[in-house]
Amino acid sequence: MNFLKRNYGWIIVTILATLPMLVIFNMIKFDFSNGLSISLIEGAGSGDKSTLEMLYHVSGEFAIRWMTVVLTLTPVFIIFGVTNLFVRQAMGIATAVWSFLHFIIFIWAEGFLETFTQVNYIAGFIAVLILIPLFFTSNRKSMKLLKTNWKKLQSFAYVAIFLSLLHVAILDKTWLIYAIITGVGFIIRIPVVKNKFINFRKNRRMVNS
Ligand code: HEM
Repeated sequence: MNFLKRNYGWIIVTILATLPMLVIFNMIKFDFSNGLSISLIEGAGSGDKSTLEMLYHVSGEFAIRWMTVVLTLTPVFIIFGVTNLFVRQAMGIATAVWSFLHFIIFIWAEGFLETFTQVNYIAGFIAVLILIPLFFTSNRKSMKLLKTNWKKLQSFAYVAIFLSLLHVAILDKTWLIYAIITGVGFIIRIPVVKNKFINFRKNRRMVNS
């Protein structure tokens, strides 16, 4: 029971992040009869989307959604005066896993070298490269080891979201809503604005006590 109490944030994020993987597995056929071969199930996409388009859609959307949520946590913490590094770590892992999956699907379908044929893919690729060290260092051990450099390294997440938004904007898919959410988050992080929120909370607490 204590375990559930302490880790409920992690558990909820893990469930939310892994459930859509079932949608992906429903679109793929594994054949073990001659080693392992993987193929797409025809017509598994919804609407006028092919199965491959649907795979890009699901994986790309979850990658950008988790990335947006992770970057929105600090502004939310500023407004409500809470911190939960544990949940942030779980959400960071979800972001990286969905982005890697999105890229793996691309490599499987088009080949690695195809990445360098379009500016939007290159932008996405650099974002994926940035996520690799972020993924491996989003734990307490690395935090202690890297000290002040840890924060510097983690701030590359801003570059990753910028490049990801660029990738999606050039593809002419849904990007504006994510840009607005992260943009508002950045405004809340500006020290003057941030202090306003902190002081407002302090004053309210004093009035209530
Ligand atoms: C090497 C890196 C990447 C490659 C090669 C790549 C490739 C692709 C491709 C081929 C599509 C489908 C385009 C279409 O349907 O016309 C796509 C869509 C998309 N990608 Fe990526 N991508 C990469 C990285 C990323 C990253 C890092 C993110 C976000 C974190 C991302 C988010 C998206 C989104 C949101 C879509 C639109 C999905 C939709 O609504 O249909 N991609 N990407």
